[in-house]
Amino acid sequence: MSRSPASDSCSSGSPSPRPPGSNRRSFLRAVGGAAGAMAVSTSLTPRLWARLRRQSQLAEGLDAKAVATDEAFWLPVQDAYPVDRSLLNLNNGGVSPSPRQAQQALRRMQDFANQCPSRNLWRIQEPQRETVRQDLAELFGANAEEIAICRNATEALETVTFGLDLKPGDVVLSTNQDYPRMIHAWNQRAQREGIEFRQISLPTPSTAEQTVEAFARAITPQTKVLHFCHVINLTGQILPVRELCDLARSRGCLSLVDGAHAFGHLDFRGTDLGCDFYGTSLHKWMSAPFGTGMLYVRKEHIESVWPLFAHEHPRSEDIRKFEQIGTHPCPLVLSIAEAIKLHRQIGPARKEARLRSLRDHWAGPLSREPGIRFHTALESESSCGFATIEVPGIEAADLASHLWQKHRIVVSPIRHEEFQGIRVSSHVYTLRPELDRFVRAMQEVAREGLPA
Ligand SMILES: Cc1ncc(COP(=O)(O)O)c(C=O)c1O
Repeated sequence: MSRSPASDSCSSGSPSPRPPGSNRRSFLRAVGGAAGAMAVSTSLTPRLWARLRRQSQLAEGLDAKAVATDEAFWLPVQDAYPVDRSLLNLNNGGVSPSPRQAQQALRRMQDFANQCPSRNLWRIQEPQRETVRQDLAELFGANAEEIAICRNATEALETVTFGLDLKPGDVVLSTNQDYPRMIHAWNQRAQREGIEFRQISLPTPSTAEQTVEAFARAITPQTKVLHFCHVINLTGQILPVRELCDLARSRGCLSLVDGAHAFGHLDFRGTDLGCDFYGTSLHKWMSAPFGTGMLYVRKEHIESVWPLFAHEHPRSEDIRKFEQIGTHPCPLVLSIAEAIKLHRQIGPARKEARLRSLRDHWAGPLSREPGIRFHTALESESSCGFATIEVPGIEAADLASHLWQKHRIVVSPIRHEEFQGIRVSSHVYTLRPELDRFVRAMQEVAREGLPA
């Protein structure tokens, strides 16, 4: 992609090769140095880009598990997020703050666009989205021609939900723990077109075998699509995506994976999943600006899926046919690159290990508390950065409001037909002493109940 010399910054590029070993200090310099550089830069010169690449290479060699509990390693990452430390945000699964660099880039590019929108927004910034597409593709492990940039997971997933050719009587199989808006989308198709939407119930928590068995039992010759989460938002349960995608293929079905809570959270390659479609938000675990998402469509399916917003050639094989949303804030798309940059500098494996380690920091003591019940299995194959817990006898909404009013702690109350609780999701910027505060607040409720 060619880039105009007048263009504003759009940092992205090819990923760094695997580097030799490194140490903690080099990583501190890497992230801290990058932050300093970005604060004064309005364009990413080749020299600066080369420096950033070198820095992330230095960080690459560090072992994920060893680094997960090394607090000094995480200092610059914690500093990269200008959050309000007078409160404790444990609802990062809902939506995540962006690192400072992404926020700055967004403002910079917004200013630049506003100087002459028809030129700067449309002619200069718009073509730069191709660099972000390339970046996302490399991170996900797909070809850039299979990646559409969307506004959120909803748009990504509903592009497929409403774009697939299905006829009355065809069955879409999902679970009763999928995200409500995705369920509404399939129900709307069912009401309007006579397809059938079936939801199976999974045990909470469930094992990989139970999940695969439940789907396998429910598939019939009429089943055309399996729709399921990579990570269930209600509990943090990781589903066996590879096995479910293999099952779908072996039974002649398509697989549509809701990865809203997995991309940027778990260290995986899309190519390892074997799915047909994968939709995700980027404003959750990837920490990209609000209103960003991504859709992966396996190359062979692009032609057959109708775009949600009309395109001149709806049966085109060009993935860009899924991006015809009209005039939109291109700076949002371009600043995804800054979030990806930090994600790479941390390293996906180290990020996953850290998120799990932070979750264990509060879940360990609370799992030994007799008055607290877990709806999430804590083994690494079952969950990672977040979990859902209940104090039996106390409504989740009441508990959430107590935590906020007494302790300024934000959690997400969960109410499902089969269970309830509060979902607790920290992020890479969360401090361990903050989690200790949450543990004490929960111990108090578990032992003494809510204040009258
Ligand atoms: C599992 C799941 N799918 C989809 C979505 C929708 O995401 P977005 O708000 O990015 O459209 C969410 C949001 O929380 C979610 O948890």
